[in-house]
Amino acid sequence: MKIGVIGTGLMGSAIAHRLIQRGFQVFLYNRTRGRAKTLIKMGAIQTEHPSELGRKCNFVIISVTDGYAVKEILFGENGLINSKNTKLLVVDTSTVLPQDSIYCANLMKQKGYSMIQAPIMGGPDPTMKGDVISIVSGNKKSIEKSKRILSTYSRKIFILGSKDGAANFIKLALNLNIALIAISLAESIVFVKKSKIDPAIFLEILNSTYFKTGLSEIKGPKMVKNNFEPKFFLKNMLKDVHLLNDCARQNGISLSFASLAEQYFRIASNRGYSELDYTGILKLFGEFNNLESYR
Ligand SMILES: NC(=O)c1ccc[n+]([C@@H]2O[C@H](COP(=O)([O-])OP(=O)(O)OC[C@H]3O[C@@H](n4cnc5c(N)ncnc54)[C@H](OP(=O)(O)O)[C@@H]3O)[C@@H](O)[C@H]2O)c1
Repeated sequence: MKIGVIGTGLMGSAIAHRLIQRGFQVFLYNRTRGRAKTLIKMGAIQTEHPSELGRKCNFVIISVTDGYAVKEILFGENGLINSKNTKLLVVDTSTVLPQDSIYCANLMKQKGYSMIQAPIMGGPDPTMKGDVISIVSGNKKSIEKSKRILSTYSRKIFILGSKDGAANFIKLALNLNIALIAISLAESIVFVKKSKIDPAIFLEILNSTYFKTGLSEIKGPKMVKNNFEPKFFLKNMLKDVHLLNDCARQNGISLSFASLAEQYFRIASNRGYSELDYTGILKLFGEFNNLESYR
């Protein structure tokens, strides 16, 4: 079966990688052509623009930064809507505003295409092992048709029903959780380090308790070693807490720690840490405390 993947950043590449390994014929489109080299070596076929990709495949997965990028891909010059393939089913895995998902799904429907939302919990490494969680909303029939493909890279699929945008609300709430855990872990590490105790001991103890998290177990040991190789860019975590706050404001919801998290991720980004992993927030708290080893 032919599958299109649009966006070959960290996540889109991992999705394409997994699909190729599972025997699918993968067609790619990425705004910056050079970013798909490894996948092409694995057998993926690069297309010139989204409409060409939409003519070649009936099933297209999008993984790009935000709603602006998704709209470019769907409705821009040579966008997917120009593919004239009415069998086309589009699955957007990007983390975007619910209102953007609703807008895109409605406009696609008006033009005769089908589009659902399937944001992902988990990064590129678990995606390549088929070990992420997909959260899905939108047209029921399209969800049914997508399950087999989504289960190629997902350990579990949560179906939230036919209300477009529902999956995006949950995804933003989940990412707030990650942002705040990263901040709390970073401050704890700074506190221990400033107290002249090895933070590796702190992590070992934390990870022996009920209060451990996936983040403290997998990312924590890298954080204390100053390893912030990006798996999820800090700039994208900033984008997500910003989207959540935007959405909360529009709905009259007050979220104090979400606002603070946005400020800290913004300062970190302005200080030049945007291309690090989001756990690079530790560098900012290190700087605040004049801690040489984490700046
Ligand atoms: N990394 C993770 O762990 C993770 C986990 C779950 C969800 N997500 C979400 O998945 C999405 C992709 O994340 P990522 O980590 O792969 O990000 P990334 O590495 O920064 O890649 C972003 C992708 O979006 C494309 N893009 C950005 N603006 C565009 C535009 N205006 N038009 C066309 N393409 C555009 C980029 O193309 P260029 O190469 O041309 O810049 C690139 O392919 C994001 O919504 C992110 O929040 C990420």
